[in-house]
Amino acid sequence: MDNSPIGFFDSGVGGLSVYQRVSALLPHESTVYIGDHAFLPYGGKTRRRIQARAVKLIRFLLARHVKLIVVACNTATIAGIDTYRRLFPDVPIIGVVPVVKTAAQLSAGSFAVLSTSFTAQSRYQKLLIRKFAPRAQVYNLGCPNLLSFVENGILQGKQIDRELGQILTPRILKKIDIIVLGCTHYPFLQKAIRAIVGSKIRILDSGGAVARHVERILTHNDIPGHAKRATHEFYSTIENDTLSRVAGTLLKKKVRVQYADI
Ligand code: DGL
Repeated sequence: MDNSPIGFFDSGVGGLSVYQRVSALLPHESTVYIGDHAFLPYGGKTRRRIQARAVKLIRFLLARHVKLIVVACNTATIAGIDTYRRLFPDVPIIGVVPVVKTAAQLSAGSFAVLSTSFTAQSRYQKLLIRKFAPRAQVYNLGCPNLLSFVENGILQGKQIDRELGQILTPRILKKIDIIVLGCTHYPFLQKAIRAIVGSKIRILDSGGAVARHVERILTHNDIPGHAKRATHEFYSTIENDTLSRVAGTLLKKKVRVQYADI
């Protein structure tokens, strides 16, 4: 047993979708979350830049004595999960990647993956598709503009519909039966996406699989928590009063986001 917290990081508030799934499954685990708003978005940055920030965020979390780290960001995971594990071998580090394998198993033959431009263009994503969906028609779609809606707490409305309509065109929607959400910000847009694509297309995200993986690793390492009152701390690398409101809207609870000067 170990009541130390689980650490999470993302470029912004998107990773809260993963935090939400983990803490729903493991309510006795305390958590520390940090969003790197000072460097948001990661999607347009170089691998080196993203790795450098990730290393700083991991150090911040380790200083808070976390027992496990979730890289709650597809982009940061793809940019360097092996590097983070090599640099910090004493703490289990779990990443998030788009659930291409699951989509390939469930699809009749054609599906779409929505992610940041970095993830969409990455060698990793292309290999994932080649390995697990060699016969499927996969629309690997970079969506650089979706993230800012979530960061502003805007989860539905005309602007989002317009943006989604440009990505998920009628031609694509006619062919696909699954949409994979390959960015941790997008599960917060699930309702807006559903309204555009109708009820027949399945929408898959990685949150549930990550939560179950966290549970397995905690058990395997004999470090599950049993806190009677789990605590949840939230940090951002910028000082901004509206972040607490946005995080509260996303998580549907009162949240206080503190400033971390890193
Ligand atoms: N939530 C991040 C992801 O899953 C967004 C990265 C970004 O800042 O562009 O990829």
